[in-house]
Amino acid sequence: GPVREFQIDPYIILDDDLKYFYDDVRYLLKSGTSQPELDTIASYYFDGQGKALRPMVTMLMAKAINYHLNNESHQLVHKQRQIALFSEMVHSASLVHDDVIDQSDFRRGKPSVNALWNHKKVTMAGDYILSIASIMIARLRSDDVTIVLSQILTDLVQGEFMQLGSRETENERFAHYLTKTYRKTASLIANALKATAVIAQADDNVAEVAFQYGRNIGLAFQLVDDMLDFVSSTEQMGKPTAADLKLGLATAPVLFACEKMSIGYASKVASRRRNDDVFMVPAVKYPELNPMVMRRFSEPGDVERAFELVHKSHGLEQTRFLAKKHCNEAIRLAQELTESPYQKGLQVVADLVINRMK
Ligand code: FPP
Ligand code: MG
Ligand code: MG
Repeated sequence: GPVREFQIDPYIILDDDLKYFYDDVRYLLKSGTSQPELDTIASYYFDGQGKALRPMVTMLMAKAINYHLNNESHQLVHKQRQIALFSEMVHSASLVHDDVIDQSDFRRGKPSVNALWNHKKVTMAGDYILSIASIMIARLRSDDVTIVLSQILTDLVQGEFMQLGSRETENERFAHYLTKTYRKTASLIANALKATAVIAQADDNVAEVAFQYGRNIGLAFQLVDDMLDFVSSTEQMGKPTAADLKLGLATAPVLFACEKMSIGYASKVASRRRNDDVFMVPAVKYPELNPMVMRRFSEPGDVERAFELVHKSHGLEQTRFLAKKHCNEAIRLAQELTESPYQKGLQVVADLVINRMK
């Protein structure tokens, strides 16, 4: 595969940008309200226990672009950091709402917000985080950045809505899943990264590299998340696993397990081709999953049976393979920027995403 730069730790090279990151979020939330309880609920997930993946990738891309453009001014980095703050705040706001929708009682290794406060207050706290994040972006006084970042909000809402209760035919399912995954996860990273290019007045090509890098990393991240839901433990993840089937959701591992054809590994000879080549091969398939997917695993025994079939199938392997393809594409895109520690860090992130255990 491509040369990896294992000696670079993105969290270390970004220490100056990330050190007081959660303190800054908590300060923003505290100073925006006269309601202490609203602040308490809104601040609850900003305890520094998250992976801070979004701000880390956002700042890496920002600094890789600044190096590429030969403009490393402090004012510019400061503005880009507001975009990183926005990405983490919107992400957390969506998790606050998500835990209400999913009635989940555990996240980041502790009781979730809705396990501690009632749904009405929790919903308002999510809205409050969004409102504070919006004011911060308005203060950047860049219409272009506001438009790019607002797209994240409409995508998040639509991605979540797509997941709520639609019933697609067998043929529509995978496309529906990928669109949903883009909107609910990848759009946030893609558009936050694009915004760091826009605020730096980069040309459209650079903005597109930032966007596509983020889109690929985001898709890979969610594919791995959907895989870990089947193979990881609650202790490891800090949130309930084996949860998607119980919520009625058919994610990539299930869709691959019941599909007629699947993507497969390249043979020894074929692997001499570009490493993002994907082709279809026959795989172990379980069409009996189809009716279960249609009824959203609602009958007794569906969840257990589907779980077992996914593990017997090649669904998990194929999900990982698709995630790997997106990580390789992200690495290729990062290489279009001028070489720098940050540009190398972007390639390390792709490895972190595919190899993450939690
Ligand atoms: C986590 O997914 C949820 C999301 C990535 C997005 C949820 C979006 C909303 C609730 C729409 C609200 C939008 C805004 C702008 C606040 P998951 O349930 O699959 O993951 P989990 O296992 O971490 O709960
Ligand atoms: Mg959810
Ligand atoms: Mg959830």
